[in-house]
Amino acid sequence: MAVRHLAVSAHAVRRLWPADRTAVLDYFLRLDPETRANRFMGHVSEAGVRAYAAQALNAEGVMYGAFVAGTLRGLGELRPMGPGASSYVLGPRAEAAFAVERTFRRQGIGAALFARIARAARHRGVVDLHVRCLSGNGPMLRLAAKHGAELQHAGSETEGALHLDRPTPFSLWHESIAEAFDFTLAVSFPSRERASA
Ligand SMILES: CC(C)(COP(=O)(O)OP(=O)(O)OC[C@H]1O[C@@H](n2cnc3c(N)ncnc32)[C@H](O)[C@@H]1OP(=O)(O)O)[C@@H](O)C(=O)NCCC(=O)NCCS
Repeated sequence: MAVRHLAVSAHAVRRLWPADRTAVLDYFLRLDPETRANRFMGHVSEAGVRAYAAQALNAEGVMYGAFVAGTLRGLGELRPMGPGASSYVLGPRAEAAFAVERTFRRQGIGAALFARIARAARHRGVVDLHVRCLSGNGPMLRLAAKHGAELQHAGSETEGALHLDRPTPFSLWHESIAEAFDFTLAVSFPSRERASA
């Protein structure tokens, strides 16, 4: 009898919660200098990275992580661009930012995070999703363009804008189930990282 193999995804994307704080810090500290510079659009010291990581899960917006064998290897952030954001609604404009650890690139993680962030944004009232990066950042520009973002160059920076469809009752229901599942996963199977010194 033929043996059937189940296709197992190499990475799993889920929302990040306060329980993931250590994993988030370790992830940011592992990013090499060039990746950090691309992610933050400029040089950021280790102290700056620590400070950023420490507040990231408490700041307005939501974060999603891509886990490979239980370790956080890619991270996408969705932040409101105006006032009035709450736990459920971010307002009409929001900004997304991404980074994937260098050795885990070109495996679809960036694309999976982008799609998940766009879906989360759509279900939090976002109409225009923006992504900013350095103008020479070919991978990010291609990733944004691939997802339908309109790119506008302004000197050393480029901004991509993606117009999102309004949610439907079914998509809202689907998103709420996905969030509940994510939360259960985060609590039941906490990420493996240990606290960094
Ligand atoms: C941009 C980034 C997140 C992409 O992550 P990734 O996991 O490698 O992306 P994927 O494997 O999902 O690729 C998705 C698409 O992105 C584009 N892309 C990614 N890497 C690319 C590269 N080196 N060259 C050209 N296109 C690239 C392609 O369009 C690709 O689709 P394809 O595989 O069908 O060609 C990653 O390069 C990264 O972390 N860069 C540093 C941080 C950064 O620049 N952030 C942007 C500021 S917010």
